[in-house]
Amino acid sequence: MEQGSVSRETLAAQALGEADPVSGGLAPVISPATNYERQVDGSYRQDRVYTRADNPTYELAERVLAALEGADCACAMFASGMAAATAVFQSLLPGDHVLVSRVLYWGVRKWLAEFALTWGLDVEFTDTTDLGAVAAAIRPGRTRLLWVETPANPMWEVTDLAAVCALAHAAEVRVAVDNTVATPVLTRPFEHGADLVVHSATKYLNGHSDVLAGAVLTARRDPFWERIRSWRRNAGAVLGPFEAWLLQRGMRTLFLRVHRASESALAIATQLSGHPALTQVLYPGLPSHPGHKIAVRQMSGGFGGMLSIRLAGGAEHATAVLQAVRVFKRATSLGGVESLIEHRAAVEGPSSPVPADLLRLSIGIEALGDLVADLDAALGEAAP
Ligand SMILES: Cc1ncc(COP(=O)(O)O)c(C=O)c1O
Repeated sequence: MEQGSVSRETLAAQALGEADPVSGGLAPVISPATNYERQVDGSYRQDRVYTRADNPTYELAERVLAALEGADCACAMFASGMAAATAVFQSLLPGDHVLVSRVLYWGVRKWLAEFALTWGLDVEFTDTTDLGAVAAAIRPGRTRLLWVETPANPMWEVTDLAAVCALAHAAEVRVAVDNTVATPVLTRPFEHGADLVVHSATKYLNGHSDVLAGAVLTARRDPFWERIRSWRRNAGAVLGPFEAWLLQRGMRTLFLRVHRASESALAIATQLSGHPALTQVLYPGLPSHPGHKIAVRQMSGGFGGMLSIRLAGGAEHATAVLQAVRVFKRATSLGGVESLIEHRAAVEGPSSPVPADLLRLSIGIEALGDLVADLDAALGEAAP
Protein backbone atom coordinates (compact mmCIF):
# COMPACT_ATOMS: atom_id res chain seq x y z
CA MET A 1 0.00 0.00 0.00
CA GLU A 2 1.39 3.39 -0.92
CA GLN A 3 2.10 5.36 2.23
CA GLY A 4 0.84 8.91 2.15
CA SER A 5 -2.17 7.98 0.02
CA VAL A 6 -4.19 6.63 2.95
CA SER A 7 -4.44 7.51 6.64
CA ARG A 8 -2.20 6.01 9.31
CA GLU A 9 -5.26 4.30 10.74
CA THR A 10 -5.70 2.35 7.51
CA LEU A 11 -1.99 1.56 7.31
CA ALA A 12 -2.16 0.13 10.83
CA ALA A 13 -5.37 -1.87 10.25
CA GLN A 14 -3.91 -3.52 7.14
CA ALA A 15 -0.30 -3.81 8.38
CA LEU A 16 0.66 -1.71 5.33
CA GLY A 17 -1.38 -4.04 3.13
CA GLU A 18 1.40 -6.59 3.01
CA ALA A 19 0.28 -10.13 2.20
CA ASP A 20 2.10 -13.44 2.04
CA PRO A 21 3.74 -13.24 -1.40
CA VAL A 22 3.53 -17.02 -1.90
CA SER A 23 -0.10 -17.78 -1.00
CA GLY A 24 -1.61 -14.29 -1.13
CA GLY A 25 -2.77 -14.81 2.47
CA LEU A 26 -3.71 -11.57 4.20
CA ALA A 27 -1.86 -12.51 7.37
CA PRO A 28 1.89 -12.20 6.91
CA VAL A 29 3.99 -15.33 7.38
CA ILE A 30 6.36 -15.83 10.32
CA SER A 31 10.02 -16.34 9.49
CA PRO A 32 11.49 -18.18 12.45
CA ALA A 33 14.78 -19.10 10.74
CA THR A 34 17.85 -18.03 12.67
CA ASN A 35 20.24 -18.52 9.74
CA TYR A 36 20.15 -18.38 5.94
CA GLU A 37 21.63 -20.66 3.29
CA ARG A 38 24.52 -19.54 1.14
CA GLN A 39 24.33 -20.09 -2.61
CA VAL A 40 27.05 -22.15 -4.28
CA ASP A 41 28.91 -18.95 -5.10
CA GLY A 42 28.85 -17.98 -1.41
CA SER A 43 26.24 -15.23 -1.77
CA TYR A 44 22.92 -14.96 0.10
CA ARG A 45 19.55 -14.67 -1.66
CA GLN A 46 18.50 -11.54 0.23
CA ASP A 47 21.76 -10.65 1.92
CA ARG A 48 20.37 -12.11 5.12
CA VAL A 49 22.86 -14.07 7.17
CA TYR A 50 21.70 -14.42 10.76
CA THR A 51 18.56 -13.31 12.61
CA ARG A 52 20.40 -11.33 15.29
CA ALA A 53 21.19 -8.85 12.45
CA ASP A 54 17.83 -8.80 10.66
CA ASN A 55 14.67 -10.84 10.26
CA PRO A 56 11.73 -10.36 7.86
CA THR A 57 9.09 -10.71 10.59
CA TYR A 58 10.43 -8.02 12.87
CA GLU A 59 11.17 -5.85 9.84
CA LEU A 60 7.43 -5.84 9.01
CA ALA A 61 6.61 -4.70 12.55
CA GLU A 62 9.32 -2.03 12.16
CA ARG A 63 7.86 -0.77 8.89
CA VAL A 64 4.37 -0.56 10.40
CA LEU A 65 5.52 1.42 13.45
CA ALA A 66 7.73 3.68 11.30
CA ALA A 67 4.72 4.45 9.09
CA LEU A 68 2.72 5.44 12.19
CA GLU A 69 5.41 7.61 13.80
CA GLY A 70 6.24 9.72 10.76
CA ALA A 71 7.53 10.21 7.30
CA ASP A 72 11.00 8.89 6.53
CA CYS A 73 11.84 7.70 10.02
CA ALA A 74 13.53 4.34 10.59
CA CYS A 75 12.68 1.83 13.31
CA ALA A 76 14.52 -0.92 15.16
CA MET A 77 12.57 -3.39 17.31
CA PHE A 78 14.07 -4.63 20.55
CA ALA A 79 13.35 -7.47 22.97
CA SER A 80 11.70 -5.09 25.46
CA GLY A 81 11.11 -1.41 26.11
CA MET A 82 14.05 -1.42 28.53
CA ALA A 83 16.31 -3.02 25.91
CA ALA A 84 15.27 -0.21 23.54
CA ALA A 85 15.79 2.57 26.09
CA THR A 86 19.14 1.28 27.31
CA ALA A 87 20.38 0.83 23.72
CA VAL A 88 20.05 4.62 23.35
CA PHE A 89 21.96 5.33 26.58
CA GLN A 90 24.59 2.70 25.83
CA SER A 91 25.23 4.20 22.42
CA LEU A 92 26.50 7.34 24.17
CA LEU A 93 30.13 7.68 25.22
CA PRO A 94 31.67 7.76 28.70
CA GLY A 95 31.69 11.34 29.98
CA ASP A 96 28.59 12.37 28.02
CA HIS A 97 26.16 14.48 30.01
CA VAL A 98 22.55 13.31 29.81
CA LEU A 99 19.46 15.19 30.94
CA VAL A 100 16.48 13.08 31.96
CA SER A 101 12.89 13.94 32.93
CA ARG A 102 12.58 14.04 36.71
CA VAL A 103 9.23 12.26 36.52
CA LEU A 104 9.52 9.12 34.41
CA TYR A 105 9.00 5.38 34.27
CA TRP A 106 10.85 4.07 37.33
CA GLY A 107 12.57 1.23 35.43
CA VAL A 108 14.51 3.76 33.36
CA ARG A 109 15.36 5.78 36.47
CA LYS A 110 16.48 2.61 38.28
CA TRP A 111 18.66 1.46 35.36
CA LEU A 112 20.26 4.90 35.13
CA ALA A 113 20.92 4.93 38.88
CA GLU A 114 22.43 1.43 38.88
CA PHE A 115 24.33 1.28 35.61
CA ALA A 116 24.80 4.66 33.95
CA LEU A 117 27.47 5.72 36.43
CA THR A 118 29.60 2.63 35.80
CA TRP A 119 28.99 3.17 32.08
CA GLY A 120 30.56 6.60 32.58
CA LEU A 121 27.50 8.69 31.82
CA ASP A 122 26.89 11.89 33.73
CA VAL A 123 23.13 11.73 34.33
CA GLU A 124 21.18 14.72 35.63
CA PHE A 125 17.46 14.67 36.38
CA THR A 126 15.58 17.83 35.55
CA ASP A 127 12.00 19.04 35.39
CA THR A 128 11.37 18.99 31.64
CA THR A 129 8.04 20.76 32.13
CA ASP A 130 10.05 23.80 33.30
CA LEU A 131 11.75 25.32 30.25
CA GLY A 132 13.95 27.55 32.41
CA ALA A 133 15.23 24.50 34.29
CA VAL A 134 15.98 22.68 31.03
CA ALA A 135 17.81 25.70 29.59
CA ALA A 136 19.87 26.06 32.77
CA ALA A 137 20.73 22.35 32.90
CA ILE A 138 22.01 22.07 29.33
CA ARG A 139 25.82 22.17 29.26
CA PRO A 140 26.81 23.23 25.75
CA GLY A 141 29.41 20.90 24.28
CA ARG A 142 28.88 18.31 27.03
CA THR A 143 25.18 17.49 27.04
CA ARG A 144 24.53 14.88 24.36
CA LEU A 145 21.01 13.71 25.08
CA LEU A 146 17.76 15.01 26.55
CA TRP A 147 15.43 12.15 27.52
CA VAL A 148 11.77 13.08 27.86
CA GLU A 149 8.75 11.00 28.78
CA THR A 150 5.37 12.61 28.12
CA PRO A 151 2.82 12.17 29.59
CA ALA A 152 5.16 10.93 32.32
CA ASN A 153 4.60 8.11 34.79
CA PRO A 154 2.74 8.30 37.13
CA MET A 155 1.74 11.97 37.55
CA TRP A 156 1.19 12.31 33.77
CA GLU A 157 3.20 15.51 33.58
CA VAL A 158 3.25 16.90 30.05
CA THR A 159 6.43 18.26 28.49
CA ASP A 160 6.20 20.81 25.67
CA LEU A 161 8.11 18.85 23.03
CA ALA A 162 8.48 21.65 20.47
CA ALA A 163 9.85 23.99 23.14
CA VAL A 164 12.37 21.56 24.69
CA CYS A 165 13.48 20.40 21.22
CA ALA A 166 14.17 24.03 20.22
CA LEU A 167 16.20 24.58 23.41
CA ALA A 168 18.11 21.33 22.99
CA HIS A 169 18.82 21.77 19.30
CA ALA A 170 20.21 25.26 19.85
CA ALA A 171 22.92 23.53 21.94
CA GLU A 172 23.22 20.55 19.53
CA VAL A 173 21.61 18.19 22.01
CA ARG A 174 19.70 15.18 20.68
CA VAL A 175 16.17 14.69 22.06
CA ALA A 176 14.73 11.22 22.71
CA VAL A 177 11.04 10.91 23.59
CA ASP A 178 9.50 7.90 25.32
CA ASN A 179 6.16 7.85 23.49
CA THR A 180 4.83 4.68 25.15
CA VAL A 181 1.89 6.36 26.88
CA ALA A 182 0.72 8.71 24.13
CA THR A 183 1.44 6.30 21.24
CA PRO A 184 1.66 7.65 17.67
CA VAL A 185 -2.14 7.73 17.67
CA LEU A 186 -2.13 10.78 19.97
CA THR A 187 1.36 12.31 19.65
CA ARG A 188 4.03 12.06 16.97
CA PRO A 189 7.19 13.46 18.58
CA PHE A 190 9.06 13.76 15.25
CA GLU A 191 6.51 16.39 14.19
CA HIS A 192 7.57 18.42 17.25
CA GLY A 193 11.28 18.11 16.49
CA ALA A 194 12.33 14.95 18.35
CA ASP A 195 15.38 13.12 17.04
CA LEU A 196 14.57 9.72 18.55
CA VAL A 197 11.36 8.05 19.68
CA VAL A 198 11.34 5.12 22.08
CA HIS A 199 8.53 2.70 22.93
CA SER A 200 7.73 -0.05 25.27
CA ALA A 201 5.75 -1.93 22.60
CA THR A 202 4.67 -4.22 25.44
CA LYS A 203 2.01 -1.63 26.23
CA TYR A 204 -0.46 -0.05 23.78
CA LEU A 205 1.31 -1.04 20.56
CA ASN A 206 0.77 -4.73 21.23
CA GLY A 207 -2.13 -4.05 23.56
CA HIS A 208 -2.98 -7.54 24.75
CA SER A 209 -0.59 -8.06 27.69
CA ASP A 210 1.06 -11.01 25.95
CA VAL A 211 4.21 -9.68 24.26
CA LEU A 212 7.34 -8.02 25.65
CA ALA A 213 8.82 -5.72 23.00
CA GLY A 214 10.45 -2.34 22.49
CA ALA A 215 11.36 0.01 19.69
CA VAL A 216 13.68 2.89 18.89
CA LEU A 217 12.91 5.15 15.94
CA THR A 218 15.06 7.84 14.41
CA ALA A 219 14.35 10.89 12.30
CA ARG A 220 17.78 10.55 10.62
CA ARG A 221 19.90 7.56 9.62
CA ASP A 222 23.05 9.16 11.06
CA PRO A 223 26.12 7.61 12.77
CA PHE A 224 24.35 7.60 16.17
CA TRP A 225 21.54 5.55 14.64
CA GLU A 226 24.09 3.14 13.18
CA ARG A 227 25.58 2.79 16.66
CA ILE A 228 22.14 1.92 18.10
CA ARG A 229 21.60 -0.68 15.35
CA SER A 230 25.08 -2.04 15.87
CA TRP A 231 24.42 -2.28 19.61
CA ARG A 232 21.28 -4.32 18.95
CA ARG A 233 23.03 -6.60 16.45
CA ASN A 234 26.08 -7.19 18.59
CA ALA A 235 24.58 -7.14 22.08
CA GLY A 236 21.67 -9.26 20.83
CA ALA A 237 18.58 -7.65 22.40
CA VAL A 238 16.48 -8.49 19.33
CA LEU A 239 12.77 -9.22 19.18
CA GLY A 240 11.86 -12.84 18.45
CA PRO A 241 9.92 -13.49 15.22
CA PHE A 242 6.87 -14.91 17.04
CA GLU A 243 6.64 -11.84 19.27
CA ALA A 244 7.11 -9.59 16.23
CA TRP A 245 4.26 -11.36 14.47
CA LEU A 246 1.96 -10.91 17.47
CA LEU A 247 3.02 -7.27 17.67
CA GLN A 248 2.10 -6.55 14.04
CA ARG A 249 -1.28 -8.15 14.75
CA GLY A 250 -1.75 -6.07 17.89
CA MET A 251 -0.93 -2.85 16.04
CA ARG A 252 -3.79 -3.50 13.60
CA THR A 253 -6.27 -2.47 16.31
CA LEU A 254 -4.07 0.22 17.90
CA PHE A 255 -6.23 3.17 16.86
CA LEU A 256 -9.49 1.56 18.03
CA ARG A 257 -8.00 0.59 21.39
CA VAL A 258 -6.26 3.90 22.10
CA HIS A 259 -9.30 5.97 21.14
CA ARG A 260 -11.58 3.82 23.28
CA ALA A 261 -9.21 3.86 26.27
CA SER A 262 -8.81 7.65 25.94
CA GLU A 263 -12.56 8.27 25.81
CA SER A 264 -13.18 6.06 28.83
CA ALA A 265 -10.26 7.55 30.78
CA LEU A 266 -11.54 11.08 30.18
CA ALA A 267 -15.05 10.07 31.26
CA ILE A 268 -13.73 8.37 34.41
CA ALA A 269 -11.37 11.25 35.27
CA THR A 270 -14.20 13.76 34.81
CA GLN A 271 -16.56 11.72 36.93
CA LEU A 272 -14.00 11.23 39.71
CA SER A 273 -13.04 14.93 39.86
CA GLY A 274 -14.37 16.38 43.06
CA HIS A 275 -15.08 12.94 44.57
CA PRO A 276 -14.98 13.44 48.37
CA ALA A 277 -12.65 10.44 48.84
CA LEU A 278 -10.01 11.95 46.52
CA THR A 279 -7.64 14.88 46.89
CA GLN A 280 -6.53 14.80 43.26
CA VAL A 281 -7.32 13.22 39.91
CA LEU A 282 -4.26 13.39 37.67
CA TYR A 283 -5.19 13.23 33.98
CA PRO A 284 -3.87 15.52 31.19
CA GLY A 285 -7.37 15.73 29.71
CA LEU A 286 -8.72 17.58 32.75
CA PRO A 287 -8.50 21.40 32.60
CA SER A 288 -7.26 21.26 36.23
CA HIS A 289 -4.13 19.31 35.20
CA PRO A 290 -1.02 21.53 35.04
CA GLY A 291 -0.08 20.12 31.62
CA HIS A 292 -3.56 20.41 30.09
CA LYS A 293 -2.92 23.42 27.83
CA ILE A 294 0.19 21.83 26.33
CA ALA A 295 -1.60 18.49 26.01
CA VAL A 296 -4.39 20.17 24.02
CA ARG A 297 -1.75 21.51 21.59
CA GLN A 298 0.44 18.46 21.45
CA MET A 299 -1.97 15.52 21.62
CA SER A 300 -4.63 14.93 19.02
CA GLY A 301 -7.61 12.64 19.32
CA GLY A 302 -7.47 12.14 23.07
CA PHE A 303 -5.32 12.33 26.18
CA GLY A 304 -4.52 8.67 26.63
CA GLY A 305 -5.75 5.86 28.84
CA MET A 306 -3.60 6.51 31.93
CA LEU A 307 -4.67 8.39 35.04
CA SER A 308 -3.82 8.46 38.72
CA ILE A 309 -5.91 9.21 41.77
CA ARG A 310 -4.80 10.36 45.21
CA LEU A 311 -6.80 9.20 48.20
CA ALA A 312 -7.84 11.56 50.98
CA GLY A 313 -7.48 8.64 53.40
CA GLY A 314 -3.82 8.12 52.46
CA ALA A 315 -1.97 4.86 51.83
CA GLU A 316 -4.36 2.84 53.97
CA HIS A 317 -7.36 3.91 51.92
CA ALA A 318 -5.44 3.28 48.70
CA THR A 319 -4.78 -0.31 49.80
CA ALA A 320 -8.42 -0.76 50.77
CA VAL A 321 -9.58 0.45 47.34
CA LEU A 322 -7.17 -2.00 45.70
CA GLN A 323 -8.69 -4.80 47.72
CA ALA A 324 -12.26 -3.72 46.93
CA VAL A 325 -12.17 -3.56 43.10
CA ARG A 326 -13.81 -6.42 41.22
CA VAL A 327 -13.59 -5.44 37.54
CA PHE A 328 -10.20 -3.68 37.53
CA LYS A 329 -7.30 -6.13 37.63
CA ARG A 330 -4.69 -5.64 40.36
CA ALA A 331 -1.60 -5.77 38.16
CA THR A 332 1.35 -3.74 36.99
CA SER A 333 2.00 -2.57 33.41
CA LEU A 334 -0.36 -0.58 31.20
CA GLY A 335 -1.89 -0.26 27.77
CA GLY A 336 -3.67 -3.62 27.57
CA VAL A 337 -7.32 -4.28 26.75
CA GLU A 338 -8.08 -4.94 30.42
CA SER A 339 -8.19 -2.15 33.01
CA LEU A 340 -5.47 -2.27 35.66
CA ILE A 341 -4.99 -0.66 39.05
CA GLU A 342 -1.85 -0.55 41.15
CA HIS A 343 -0.14 1.13 44.07
CA ARG A 344 2.96 2.56 42.39
CA ALA A 345 4.87 3.41 45.57
CA ALA A 346 4.68 -0.24 46.69
CA VAL A 347 5.72 -1.49 43.26
CA GLU A 348 8.68 0.88 43.07
CA GLY A 349 9.96 0.27 46.59
CA PRO A 350 11.31 2.49 49.39
CA SER A 351 13.26 4.86 47.09
CA SER A 352 10.12 5.70 45.09
CA PRO A 353 9.23 9.41 44.87
CA VAL A 354 5.59 8.48 44.18
CA PRO A 355 3.18 9.57 46.96
CA ALA A 356 1.89 6.66 49.06
CA ASP A 357 -1.72 7.81 48.60
CA LEU A 358 -1.57 7.38 44.80
CA LEU A 359 -3.19 4.64 42.73
CA ARG A 360 -2.34 4.35 39.03
CA LEU A 361 -5.07 3.27 36.63
CA SER A 362 -4.63 1.94 33.12
CA ILE A 363 -8.01 2.11 31.42
CA GLY A 364 -8.82 -0.71 29.02
CA ILE A 365 -11.62 -1.24 26.54
CA GLU A 366 -14.29 -2.77 28.79
CA ALA A 367 -17.79 -1.28 29.11
CA LEU A 368 -17.36 2.17 30.64
CA GLY A 369 -20.34 1.64 32.97
CA ASP A 370 -18.69 -1.42 34.52
CA LEU A 371 -15.46 0.48 35.18
CA VAL A 372 -17.22 3.50 36.69
CA ALA A 373 -19.45 1.33 38.88
CA ASP A 374 -16.44 -0.69 40.06
CA LEU A 375 -14.47 2.41 41.09
CA ASP A 376 -17.48 4.03 42.66
CA ALA A 377 -18.25 0.96 44.75
CA ALA A 378 -14.60 0.42 45.72
CA LEU A 379 -14.15 4.06 46.80
CA GLY A 380 -17.35 3.88 48.86
CA GLU A 381 -16.73 0.46 50.36
CA ALA A 382 -13.18 1.29 51.32
CA ALA A 383 -13.92 4.74 52.78
CA PRO A 384 -12.09 5.16 56.11
C1 LIG B 1 6.84 4.58 29.77
C2 LIG B 1 7.58 3.26 29.79
N1 LIG B 1 8.75 3.16 29.14
C3 LIG B 1 9.46 2.01 29.14
C4 LIG B 1 9.00 0.89 29.81
C5 LIG B 1 9.81 -0.39 29.80
O1 LIG B 1 9.25 -1.32 28.90
P1 LIG B 1 9.34 -2.90 29.03
O2 LIG B 1 8.60 -3.31 30.26
O3 LIG B 1 8.72 -3.37 27.75
O4 LIG B 1 10.80 -3.27 29.11
C6 LIG B 1 7.78 0.95 30.48
C7 LIG B 1 7.27 -0.25 31.21
O5 LIG B 1 6.39 -0.16 32.03
C8 LIG B 1 7.05 2.16 30.47
O6 LIG B 1 5.87 2.28 31.13
